Amino acid sequence: MSENTRTTLVLGASGRTGSLVVADLLAEGRHVVAYVRRPEAMKPANGLTVIGGQLDDVAAMTAAAAGCDSILVTLGMKGMDFSASEVMAGGPAPEGRTPVITMAMSSIIAVAKANDIRRVVVLSALGVGATIKNSAFTAEQIANSPLDSVFRDHENGEALLRASGLDWTTVHPGFLTSGPATAHPVVIDAASGRKLPGRSVTSRADVAAVLVHSVDDPATIDKQLIVMSEAE
Ligand SMILES: NC(=O)c1ccc[n+]([C@@H]2O[C@H](COP(=O)([O-])OP(=O)(O)OC[C@H]3O[C@@H](n4cnc5c(N)ncnc54)[C@H](OP(=O)(O)O)[C@@H]3O)[C@@H](O)[C@H]2O)c1
Repeated sequence: MSENTRTTLVLGASGRTGSLVVADLLAEGRHVVAYVRRPEAMKPANGLTVIGGQLDDVAAMTAAAAGCDSILVTLGMKGMDFSASEVMAGGPAPEGRTPVITMAMSSIIAVAKANDIRRVVVLSALGVGATIKNSAFTAEQIANSPLDSVFRDHENGEALLRASGLDWTTVHPGFLTSGPATAHPVVIDAASGRKLPGRSVTSRADVAAVLVHSVDDPATIDKQLIVMSEAE
């Protein structure tokens, strides 16, 4: 890895959004270090270094992040994809899932500080924390839905990040699809208070593009960005 090449540590690189983020970062000429628990899931690519390790192994993650200037997080609890109608129908989420964002965030903050990395960009969801005001769902609907534990995990982890003093951005899409990138995804600062449709839909390709763009855009620092491909 050359000294002058910008390098991003990606957590969640083996996932559906994470794999698009890796491809977009590489297409921008960045190097990528994918720190993953299943290295065998990663396809080799020029500019991509794959390092195996667990999210709570701060020493291993710190070593993996050496030389990186940014961290991009697309982690998510496995098997927690729900439709709008399932959210409206309510009911508890399946038990026993690891709160992966909360678990990873204290490692991420320690790793960033140990490596003098200031920039951390995280994939979240529309309705998490303060972004509930941008969602057509109410806090009560979320609390009584299968999304409750997923959203609490995001908010608990993101609260740690906001308090860390690092240059953070969180990106909050509505329901995700595996559809293509669209020409002009809507990107809104959550602080605007603008409300999006509860069933707003975003392709993972659009989310990946916004995440990757945010890494180098100082205007997005300390912001919660709402992203949407299209409204119903
Ligand atoms: N689905 C939606 O409609 C929706 C809407 C808004 C926001 N989101 C948010 O989008 C994010 C990612 O979505 P996605 O569809 O791209 O997720 P995904 O395809 O399920 O990928 C999740 C990633 O997290 C990793 N991961 C999960 N638990 C882990 C653990 N304990 N240790 C290490 N790695 C772990 C997975 O690694 P492995 O490959 O090793 O399992 C994978 O790389 C989530 O935070 C979700 O809340 C989703």
